[in-house]
Amino acid sequence: MIRSLLLIIGVYLLKNTSALSNNYYNDSFDEELFIKPLPSGHVYAYFQFTTLWHIPKDPDYRLLCASLNFVDPSNSLSPEYSFRPTGVHEKSLNSSHLRYSSLPREIVCTENLTPFKKLLPCDSKKGLATLLNSAYIYNTNYHSIGIHFRTVCRNPSCTLSSLELRQTISLVYDAMADENQDWSLRKLFGMGLQGVCPLATLSNIYIDTGTNQTVHTYQLSPPPTATILSLRGGQQDKIAVYDNRVHTSKGIFNIAAVHKKLRTNFINYPSILSANRYIIGYGQEKGSLVTKLFNNHWQSIDVILLENIPWYLSVYLHTMKITQGNEIIKPLLLRYLSGRERQQPYYLELIIRLPPHSITKFSIEMEYLFLKWQEYPPDANHGFYMGPAVITALLPIARNYTGLPIDGSTITSSFNASRNGYLVQLRTETILISLPTPDFSMPYNVICLACTAVALAFGPLHNISTKRLVLKKNTKVGWKDKITKAIKSFFSKRKSEEKEKED
Ligand SMILES: *[C@@H]1O[C@H](CO)[C@@H](O)[C@H](O)[C@H]1NC(C)=O
Ligand SMILES: *[C@@H]1O[C@H](CO)[C@@H](O)[C@H](O)[C@H]1NC(C)=O
Ligand SMILES: *[C@@H]1O[C@H](CO)[C@@H](O)[C@H](O)[C@H]1NC(C)=O
Ligand SMILES: *[C@@H]1O[C@H](CO)[C@@H](O)[C@H](O)[C@H]1NC(C)=O
Ligand SMILES: *[C@@H]1O[C@H](CO)[C@@H](O)[C@H](O)[C@H]1NC(C)=O
Ligand SMILES: *[C@@H]1O[C@H](CO)[C@@H](O)[C@H](O)[C@H]1NC(C)=O
Repeated sequence: MIRSLLLIIGVYLLKNTSALSNNYYNDSFDEELFIKPLPSGHVYAYFQFTTLWHIPKDPDYRLLCASLNFVDPSNSLSPEYSFRPTGVHEKSLNSSHLRYSSLPREIVCTENLTPFKKLLPCDSKKGLATLLNSAYIYNTNYHSIGIHFRTVCRNPSCTLSSLELRQTISLVYDAMADENQDWSLRKLFGMGLQGVCPLATLSNIYIDTGTNQTVHTYQLSPPPTATILSLRGGQQDKIAVYDNRVHTSKGIFNIAAVHKKLRTNFINYPSILSANRYIIGYGQEKGSLVTKLFNNHWQSIDVILLENIPWYLSVYLHTMKITQGNEIIKPLLLRYLSGRERQQPYYLELIIRLPPHSITKFSIEMEYLFLKWQEYPPDANHGFYMGPAVITALLPIARNYTGLPIDGSTITSSFNASRNGYLVQLRTETILISLPTPDFSMPYNVICLACTAVALAFGPLHNISTKRLVLKKNTKVGWKDKITKAIKSFFSKRKSEEKEKED
């Protein structure tokens, strides 16, 4: 599993803010923790905090350390079918007011946990939020933090509406990593639970014991406050419930699962719907984007596929191909908006019917653009990330499905919540693409060469310019002097020779 941080931030701006209360939390605050041992040998922990909320007036209020300033028209689009408001709204929302963008190159930001906790009424001093220990959370195999806003009704006739804030954290631990498959709150989060947020109307821990006696056998200690049975869309779940208010009154509260029979075989149930995405082709000029959709159900499923392709990958709609086996199929519906360089991404939204037990392959060819040199990131040869495709579907059954129903806001509302369809949104993996990159080592080479040349020229120049000029006597003799001297010496020689002869 990929260790990644997934941030989904949906902000619905309300027109009638007067309906909001002036206090942050004057209605209810629910904190829940849902733990599910997965058949694959992992332990899934899902935190949820729900409250009715009011937008602070402080304009400097910064929620998260996400690079939201990088969201601009050149990477956002307005999907028509994939994202619908889940809260109440006056009239059907025009999708041209909706923006969707993904920042695939976001790095894990450990600072995100602090502002996340600050949104909670008790911060991290009391309640389930004390378990959010960054040293443990960022060491999991998968983690995801979410903040969701929506408008909800305050009364059954819906004359009053309120803003609901839901904060979630999903974590997946590898329980098979060590020999001992037992887990406990202390082992997962580094500490036990120390109390309940006094403002909370509900503070519960739920443990899904559905895999007990089939995959492995374990015992929970202390025994749960209650055990409830939930029948939902063909799935039967046995859930152990702990009321934290009762258990934390006696001190630090820890739940431990002790195995009697260890999990031996790894069973991997295929999920009903799955997808993956990859790039084919070689070189830095052309490629083909392939998204594969797997339907493992015995009924056909209609899915919405949203492709958000950055402007620097030009795609051509006529190269789009959807195949099932050898058969080419047509989408039920297609919406396409061509991208424009540096202005808008390529937007493609399709509705495809997936036959029972089938693999559907969507492919489209694309060309890689050569960017301006300032548009490359500092590590240009690393490549560019492309955001995931989003696959939205209404599943006919809720097998292995733990999502909340659209009309519910707490985990309790998902028990016995059989509906006509179960909304699921899958995101494929992000892809790393290497665009044609100029040789950024060239300036470096030029600099090296220039420096060498300068160094070679500098030595002699420096030598010449710093050399001391020393005057040497008798070295500068004019030609007149030389001649007179020569003549003088000649005559003096002659004279001396004559003298010698006379002698
Ligand atoms: C919440 O605040 C609003 C406005 O201040 C008030 O009308 C409402 O009665 C409060 N609700 C509760 C449950 O106290
Ligand atoms: C949505 O809004 C756009 C621009 O504001 C408008 O052109 C379009 O007709 C609207 N669509 C619907 C269904 O109201
Ligand atoms: C799992 O099954 C065993 C055997 O029936 C039982 O003793 C144990 O309490 C069960 N564990 C849970 C968490 O229900
Ligand atoms: C769900 O339905 C089953 C069967 O009708 C019932 O036994 C169980 O108590 C219900 N669970 C909840 C949480 O209401
Ligand atoms: C997941 O689905 C499979 C296939 O129906 C089922 O056997 C299994 O019990 C489910 N797993 C869980 C944890 O419910
Ligand atoms: C500097 O000039 C002197 C005299 O010409 C020469 O002997 C010496 O080697 C030179 N040094 C360098 C570093 O060029």
